[in-house]
Amino acid sequence: MGIVAVTDQSLKKASRIIQDGGLVAFPTETVYGLGCNALDKAAVEKVFRTKGRPPINPLIVHVAFIADAQKIAKMTPLAEQIAFHFWPGPLTMILPQRENSEVSELCTAGLNTIAVRFPEHEIARKLVQMAGVPIAAPSANISGAISPTSPRHVFESLGESVDMILAGGASRMGIESTIVDVTTDIPVILRYGSITKEVLEDVLKCNVQDGVAGEDNVHSLIQSPGQLLKHYAPQIPLRMDAVDVHSDEALLAFGNTKFMSIKTGGNLSSFSDDQIRNLSESTDLEEAAKNLFSYMRDLDNPKFKSIAVMNIPNEGVGVAINDRLWRASQKP
Ligand code: TXA
Ligand code: MG
Repeated sequence: MGIVAVTDQSLKKASRIIQDGGLVAFPTETVYGLGCNALDKAAVEKVFRTKGRPPINPLIVHVAFIADAQKIAKMTPLAEQIAFHFWPGPLTMILPQRENSEVSELCTAGLNTIAVRFPEHEIARKLVQMAGVPIAAPSANISGAISPTSPRHVFESLGESVDMILAGGASRMGIESTIVDVTTDIPVILRYGSITKEVLEDVLKCNVQDGVAGEDNVHSLIQSPGQLLKHYAPQIPLRMDAVDVHSDEALLAFGNTKFMSIKTGGNLSSFSDDQIRNLSESTDLEEAAKNLFSYMRDLDNPKFKSIAVMNIPNEGVGVAINDRLWRASQKP
């Protein structure tokens, strides 16, 4: 069926596909998700198979009401506070799962916790409401590859293996939701997103721990099984904090490129149109986040030796951008 425009009719059809155990890719404010009925083991299995995702990596379950989150997960007063403030929105909570939750064990990779997200995007919310079941949805891309921020990205990545791709234009934020573990008294960030540690601390009036697995924090991999180090990866190598660029590289720029030098001499005007993208000429980090995955895809062309990425300030959503770039730059 491929990419389908959103109408009342196509949404009805999409919700029926979910109820019948099929797969629907849909827009959210972060990235496109590959959705299925979270209660249906065979459907969840199909999602893992389609993505080539290792079964140890659990999925996020999407709901459209706080009350529906409470049916599958136990929400402490802290979790409720986070929900009231940040939902619907780009924030996923890791919560203790209810014993009587009907969510497929495959979806949670057998853990006794569950990742729950209440997305803001109208199409995502309508789809969950109309399907009448919680929707498990990882990003709609092959496991380990660059996340999709447009319906075309989903089609290029997964093609006809998805029963329907709902078209909702380019993703507004372009970077996956912030993941916060709320199973202990102190909230722990497991994945950076546009809702930052500072914003969380400001709203919650408490300390928030940084538990993102990475260079300085390999132990956290146990807490966040999906944050496998190599991720968001283009086919060609990517290097960060470039202060110069080779003539056979592609350039992912940020801000002013006036002082970028070319190793072999010359200047950037000799670069072809498909060799350079600027995440944000005005150094707007939110604009950069929105463009990040799309521009990485544009430059991921085997005719280039690698992608050189200019320095991006590690503040605000820049922390999440640098996290994605760092994972993309890891050798397999
Ligand atoms: O913005 C988003 O969150 C998007 C859209 C589609 O909603 N979804 C998304 O899903 O990014 P995915 O599958 O690409 O990332 C899910 C992450 C993985 O890193 C996984 O390990 C983690 O959530 N996760 C899921 N359940 C977990 C759990 N019980 N404990 C710790 N981490 C969990
Ligand atoms: Mg993903």
